[in-house]
Formats: sequence, C-alpha cells, structure tokens
Amino acid sequence: MQNVQKYLAQNKDRFLEELIELLKIPSISADSAFSQDVIDTSEAVKAALEKAGCDLVEICETDGYPIVYGEKIINPDLPTVLVYGHYDVQPPDPVDLWNSPPFEPVIKETPIHPEGAIFARGACDDKGQMYMHVKALEFMVKTDQLPCNVKFMIEGEEEVGSNNLGVFVAANKEKLANDVILISDTGMIANDVPSITTGLRGLSYVEVEVTGPNRDLHSGLYGGAVANPINILAKMIASLHDENNHITIPGFYDKVDELSEQERAEMAKAPFSLEKYKKSLQINAVHGEEGYSTNERNSIRPTLDVNGIWGGYIGEGAKTVIASKAYAKISMRLVPHQDWQEITELFKTHFEKIAPKSVTVKVKPHHGGQGYVTPIDNTAYQAAAKAYETTFGKTPVPQRSGGSIPIVSLFEKELKSKTILMGFGLDSDAIHSPNEHFGVWNYLKGIETIPYFYKYFTEMS
Ligand code: BES
Ligand code: MN
Ligand code: MN
Repeated sequence: MQNVQKYLAQNKDRFLEELIELLKIPSISADSAFSQDVIDTSEAVKAALEKAGCDLVEICETDGYPIVYGEKIINPDLPTVLVYGHYDVQPPDPVDLWNSPPFEPVIKETPIHPEGAIFARGACDDKGQMYMHVKALEFMVKTDQLPCNVKFMIEGEEEVGSNNLGVFVAANKEKLANDVILISDTGMIANDVPSITTGLRGLSYVEVEVTGPNRDLHSGLYGGAVANPINILAKMIASLHDENNHITIPGFYDKVDELSEQERAEMAKAPFSLEKYKKSLQINAVHGEEGYSTNERNSIRPTLDVNGIWGGYIGEGAKTVIASKAYAKISMRLVPHQDWQEITELFKTHFEKIAPKSVTVKVKPHHGGQGYVTPIDNTAYQAAAKAYETTFGKTPVPQRSGGSIPIVSLFEKELKSKTILMGFGLDSDAIHSPNEHFGVWNYLKGIETIPYFYKYFTEMS
C-alpha cells in the first residue's frame, strides 16, 4: 500500500469531521421516537459509500430499519470482501452522567488517548469503527490500490437483535456471496498490544414477570400473609447461582465447550493486570465462577445476569405497598456449543419450576444468537495478522471476547464464509455507557490497517 500514511495525514481532519457529522444523528434503534433519525442515518451511510467510490449503493427496506448495501466489483475473478457494520446506536441514558451531550461530539484528551478521543454515542460502537471501512475504501479507490472486490452491508438493528438481517441474508445469498466477512465491531487489548477477536459469546435474553395478588395491597393489612412478588423474584434470582457462582439451571453446562489446559495456558499469556482492572472499575475484589480467571470468566465461560429489575413503589418518599407484580430482564451469555434456543427453554422450565405456588410466573424470550469462534489457521486470519504486523509492528494476540454479535454465526450458516473481527476499540471506551468515546489514534490506525488486509488477503488467496 503506497502512501497510506501520507493520505491519512492529508485527510485526517476531514475524516474526523465526516465522522462527527454522522455521530450527530441520534440513530437509537431501541426507541421509536428516533425512527426518523435512524432512517436519516441510513441515507447518510448511503451517501458516504457513494462518495467513497462504491459503484452501486442501495437502501434495502426490511420490516424494520433499512440495510445499506454497497459494492465495488472490479473483477469477478478476484476475491470479494464483505464488510458488515451497524449504523444504529444504544440509547444514551443515563444522560445526566455524560460530561458532554451524547449527540454533540467533542474531541478530548484522556490518559489512554493522548491524541484525543471523540466522545459521542456510537463513536466506537459502531459508527466510528464502521466508518473506518468507508474511509479505507476511499483511500484504496482514490489511489487506485483496491486489490479485490468489496461489498458493504450496514444494518440499523444490531443493538436490538438484528431481527430482519437474518431474513435479508437468507434471501440475498447470491448478492452477498463473498470470500471473507470483515467486521470492526469489537475491541483490542491495548494500543501497544494489538489483538484480533477470535470468539464471540452467544446470547439468550428473557424477561420474567412474577404475579402475586391481583392488585397492589396495603403492606400492613396484608403483609406477612400473602406472597410479595418482589421478595419472591429476588429469592428466585438469587437461587440461579450457587455458592461457587455456578449457574444452577439443570443442563445449562451440558454442551459447554471446555477448553484444554493447553488452550487455557495459551489464553493466560495475554497481558492482563488484575490490579489495574480493579482500579479502573473502583472495585475491591473481582467476582465470578470459582476455578476460572477473570479473562476466562468474561470470555470462555457462560454467564447469567439481571440487566434490570423493577416493581412496586420507586417514587419519592415511602409508600407502604405490596405490589401485584415484579419484573426482571435477564441475559445469559453463552459459549460454543450452547444453543441459545435450547438454553432459553431450559431457563423457562427451571424458572417456572422454582416458583412457589403463591405466585404465577411468565417467561418471555426476547432474542438471542449463537456464539462464534474464528479459526486462526486460515488465509483470512493470517492476512489480518500480517496487516497488524505491518501497521503496529507487532503480531496481534488472538483473543476471545465476551460480547455478542449474534448475526456472525448466521453469516457462516447462510453464506458459508468465515468472519474476521478486526476491532480497534478498547474496553475502556465505554460502549453502551455514558461518555462513550473512540480514540483518534485508533480510528486512524484502523483506516491504515484495513487496506493491508485487502492486499494480503488478495495475495494469499
Ligand atoms: N459491538 C457490540 C458487541 C461487542 C463489543 C463484541 C465489544 C465484542 C466486543 C454489539 O454492538 C453489541 O452491543 N452486541 C450486543 C448484543 C446484541 C444482540 C444487542 C451485546 O453484546 O450485548
Ligand atoms: Mn456493535
Ligand atoms: Mn453495541
């Protein structure tokens, strides 16, 4: 790749300005109040792909938000890279905890980002990382160095479970045919410790409702004599882990892929400081499944977490009441080869079984997806590793992540191709949290590294 550094130096300010414009649109897929903004964002992505040099760009309507498809086919005999990303973002709340408004991007320095970081919802997840691919394409097209064919598929429903993407992929296998799928929607260990994500966890997300009496009751007149659904729900949830923090749902671990001692020893080599980890989160101790390290607990082991719990009186002051209903949203992160639908069933059966007679329980499955592991002994991984070696001067560490991109396993099933997860974010970038940001250095490093992947992948194919 000639002149990538020069091109970056000359266009850096514009690359930042363009991303900032995209980040100003609040494309919150979970909140229907922002539906026009989500649609406007798809139009902005379309325009960006056209400007970067795609020959064909389409807005593909779905039953939900549109998918933006773009392509530049230079020669059907050459390999084709399919880039996937998402233009929707998480809701910004709690907005009070942001130091600057979530949709008014600002660049500020931080201790880990001395060259500045862009603070905005979606800066890292995933507008910033998706846009690196758009700008990498621009560079390759403008300097006449695009070595192969490229297709883009950018969706607007990732943060709400990609419900319509599966339908689109199944119906457009020919259009989406590719030799490798490339995604930047994960992270790396540190700016001086590049890593490539080789695994994602699966997910089963459910909502539970516990009903006691038919109406809210005076907690003095009835307290002690009828089941309080909030008390019961808390007890039921607590029973889902044992004293060693193992999950107690029968059959939950049956299909878990246990790593060999050798694989675990390999994993343990990745640089990690427990002290720094605790300090960054301001906790005195870590917590998790007995017998596993922190890095194992958050990547190769399945988990069960309550994401929200509510019921009863939460207004100002005190109200003496026994609520009729209590609710919780529960997520289970899964590992290969757990099946998300099977786990959802196991959860439902168990949760209904442990409910005392005094209440009724409803379990409503939300969405889910399978986990994923990328092989590292193939051309695509080797090409990615070589690209990092070129731009970071270091061999990247293969690392399994705890997060989920459920659609990745579906890509493999429908399109029969492997996915390479070249993420340039950091865990400390606060994705899904207040003050999400993305390092300017990371953004530019991504734009610099991606073209080398195309080059090496084409050469090695
Ligand atoms: N980009 C994230 C997933 C991610 C982040 C994977 C960092 C690995 C490292 C994605 O946008 C996301 O948030 N996924 C959701 C699942 C989805 C079904 C809502 C998640 O992991 O909670
Ligand atoms: Mn994402
Ligand atoms: Mn996300």
